[in-house]
Amino acid sequence: MSRKPIIAGNWKMNLLRSEAKELFEGIKSFVKDYTAPQLPTVVIAPTFTSLCEVSSVKCDCGCGGNKIYVAAQNCHWENSGAYTGEISVAMAKDAGCDYIIIGHSERRQYFSETDEMINKKAKAILAGGLIPIICCGETLGQREAGMTDEHIASQIRAALSGISSEDVAKSVIAYEPIWAIGTGKTCDSAEANRVIKMIRSVVEEVAGSNAADSIRILYGGSVKPSTIEEQMAQSDIDGALVGGASLKADSFNEIIANTMKVAV
Ligand code: 13P
Repeated sequence: MSRKPIIAGNWKMNLLRSEAKELFEGIKSFVKDYTAPQLPTVVIAPTFTSLCEVSSVKCDCGCGGNKIYVAAQNCHWENSGAYTGEISVAMAKDAGCDYIIIGHSERRQYFSETDEMINKKAKAILAGGLIPIICCGETLGQREAGMTDEHIASQIRAALSGISSEDVAKSVIAYEPIWAIGTGKTCDSAEANRVIKMIRSVVEEVAGSNAADSIRILYGGSVKPSTIEEQMAQSDIDGALVGGASLKADSFNEIIANTMKVAV
């Protein structure tokens, strides 16, 4: 089964609108030189305030048909209502999003998001016709205590609970070991592949083998141009969720270029 790779940039809480637009244009001017089948699926997740800014330069002028998809970094599971500070799936869609990142470890850690909330968000995103990028990952303490697989499996079972096999197949998971995020310490590629294979086996258990074969599972955590080739050469790693290295066009474009050397 061949799965189209995804290279996604998570800009986190960085860049003003003008900076976001400039960076997005820098990525667009790189991808426009490639024919679509060669390229991985490229997804950019700016802050909420820049969603419309980047969506307006998304595809419609001179990108050679190479759409760059836009993602929100979070959403609420209700359609509307008294939820100060939140945005709904319909609002993200209205701002040009095709994907929404949910369950990032920073949201779990700093904003107390639970597995149950992440499951509600995943269902709302799929019901709204968008694709969730569901993050999971262990702390260093959990890894050292030998609890990595158990912890990740339970995050995935909870996130996918009650979602149809067809919807699971369309979804994206990002395995991001917390100790590798923003630290420069990339998880060993073979180990990341082992955990991702384990995640795929959990997907098979909850949603069947078609979903397990189709779902794209990314690695995230200090991905750089120099690490992506080895990561993409692994059997089960379908792409990357990139933080720091997505904040400069040169390094993000090099990650896309190096992905194309290996995988598409
Ligand atoms: P870094 O690539 O900066 O480690 O961030 C990874 C991440 O959290 C992407 O969501």
